Amino acid sequence: MLTPNLSYANLKESYLFHHIAEKTGAYLESHPGAHLYRMGIGDVSLPLAPAVIEALHRAVDDQAVKESFHGYMPECGAPFLREAVAGYYAKRGVRLSPDEVFVSSGASDELGDILDLFDRKNRALIMEPAYPAYVDANIMAGREILHLSSGPENQFLPLPEDGLEADLVYLCSPNNPTGAAYGRDQLSRWVAWANARGALILFDAAYEAFIAEDLPHSIFEIPGARTCAIEICSLSKTAGFTGTRLGYTVIPKELERGGLSLNAMWVRNRTTKTNGISYILQRGGAAVFTEEGQRQVRENIRVYRENARCLMRALDQAGIRYWGGRNAPYIWMRCPEGMGSWDFFDLLLREIQVVGTPGAGFGACGEDFFRFSTFGDPADTREAAARMLRLLKK
Ligand code: MLT
Repeated sequence: MLTPNLSYANLKESYLFHHIAEKTGAYLESHPGAHLYRMGIGDVSLPLAPAVIEALHRAVDDQAVKESFHGYMPECGAPFLREAVAGYYAKRGVRLSPDEVFVSSGASDELGDILDLFDRKNRALIMEPAYPAYVDANIMAGREILHLSSGPENQFLPLPEDGLEADLVYLCSPNNPTGAAYGRDQLSRWVAWANARGALILFDAAYEAFIAEDLPHSIFEIPGARTCAIEICSLSKTAGFTGTRLGYTVIPKELERGGLSLNAMWVRNRTTKTNGISYILQRGGAAVFTEEGQRQVRENIRVYRENARCLMRALDQAGIRYWGGRNAPYIWMRCPEGMGSWDFFDLLLREIQVVGTPGAGFGACGEDFFRFSTFGDPADTREAAARMLRLLKK
């Protein structure tokens, strides 16, 4: 008889964002016609940039003509997109060869898939609060997870202390959910720590485009990172691809463990397990990295930054302490005194129809906190901020 992967029994019954969708769905069922102010899951509200739409249309037309038609795409990514991504890094002084860039269907897919490269016996270190998929993907893989809690005492930016041991470390900067972003010296400490013990950093750079201050956008801006890090990035938040799905992963050629090249292993994996990402989507993705595309996606990011400012103003006026919002599209606030994060979620939904994300969904140390996404519709965000201010000042 077949034995299923018994590790699934160790998962919570439902995934955080699925559970929130169920709760908001139940609210709408009992309040038909109610309008919800959605600032829960980090899903974008602005459409794709015109340059991307034009490229997608052109690519559809290419597929209609024998001479420009594409069948299977190269499994690791079309050369034109791998080169475009390498060119994007080069602008920040990070030199990559295009074959160190792998095109993916998005960061969340890739964060799970890439675990194929690592033995189950490796211990995964996850600093919390954390994007819950890091934890769940490792539970599914049956891997031991070490939790490193963070909080206001270290500005949600934990560093490797003496005696810390792990094999695989997740770093997300700017961070989901707290919005905290590491500086160069802090990332250098993680790189030195990983190189000293042969550990590997999985660096989630999905929110790099939101950095406004002088902070590293990529782990590869840190000397030494090429021998200890893989970077996973996505166009979901940068360029509104949440529903379109496209991302990229950087694996340096120097990165080796146990005598094996991780870049070569990932080539082997992709050529076996995928037939590449669609030509049409990759053309749309390449348009993001053109001058025009960059200008247009930055315009959308400017709108989301204004959403962040609007929410931060309301929290300032209500005297609520918060983190993030400056270099990240998330605001991480302390729940009103004595209130757990799911209770605060219920209160906001019931009283002012605002949907956010309870901090407890990001790990036990998130229980006293609450996350707002700033990707919502600007008019809805303004209204939500006004409603919240009235509620919190009561
Ligand atoms: C979030 O809300 O944390 C993200 O949108 C989830 C994701 O990127 O999958």
